[in-house]
Amino acid sequence: MASASAAKTKSAVAQSERAGRTAAAAAATSVSLPSRREFLYYIWGASFALIAGEIVAGVLWFAFPRFAEGEFGGAFTIDPTELPAPGAAPVSKPEGRFWLSRPVMDGQDTFVALYGVCTHLGCLPKWVDVNNRFECPCHGSKYQLSGLYISGPAPRSLDRFKTTITYSDGTTVITDAAGDPIPLDDSKIIQAIRVDTGARIKRPGKV
Ligand code: FES
Repeated sequence: MASASAAKTKSAVAQSERAGRTAAAAAATSVSLPSRREFLYYIWGASFALIAGEIVAGVLWFAFPRFAEGEFGGAFTIDPTELPAPGAAPVSKPEGRFWLSRPVMDGQDTFVALYGVCTHLGCLPKWVDVNNRFECPCHGSKYQLSGLYISGPAPRSLDRFKTTITYSDGTTVITDAAGDPIPLDDSKIIQAIRVDTGARIKRPGKV
C-alpha cells in the first residue's frame, strides 16, 4: 500500500517536472515583438546608416581620382619635347584622344590641347597639311589649328582640355575657364605639361 502511494507521488513529481521544462522551453523560444517606439528607432537607425554610407561614398568618389594617370579621363604628363614648333602641324596623342596644338595668334605663340572628336556627330577630324586645318571625314566640318570652327555642320569649335604648363622657374599657367589657347612665354623653358582629359571645356559656339 505504502509502495503504491510512493509510486503515485513519484509519478506526480515527474509530471510536474515535465510541465515545468515545457513551460521553460516555450518561454525561451518565444520572440517578443518590438514596440512601436523600438520599431521607429530601428527605421531611424537604418536611414541614418544609409545616409552616412552615401556621404562616405561621395567623399571617397571625389577624394580619389577615378582614372589612372595616362588613361583617357585622367591626366597626361607631356614631355615638352613633344610640342610642335609654333604654327606647325599639331601632334596627335591618340591614347588621350587629343591634339597638342601650338597656334600663333596675333603674333603670340600659344598652346592648346584639343579634343580630337568632332563636335558634330563625333567623328575624328584629321589634320590636313596642305589645307592647314582639321577636316572631318564624315560631314566635312573644318577647324583651324586653334580648334576654331571654320565651316560645316559642327555646332561649335573643337572642345579642349584643361592644361597646366610649368616653367623651369616654378611658375605655372593654366587654361582659363573659356579654354582659350595659353599664351607661352618663349623666354622661359617649359618643364612640364599636364593635360587633364577629365576636364573638357566646351566652347559656347563657333568661337
Ligand atoms: S561628325 Fe564631323 S562633320 Fe559630322
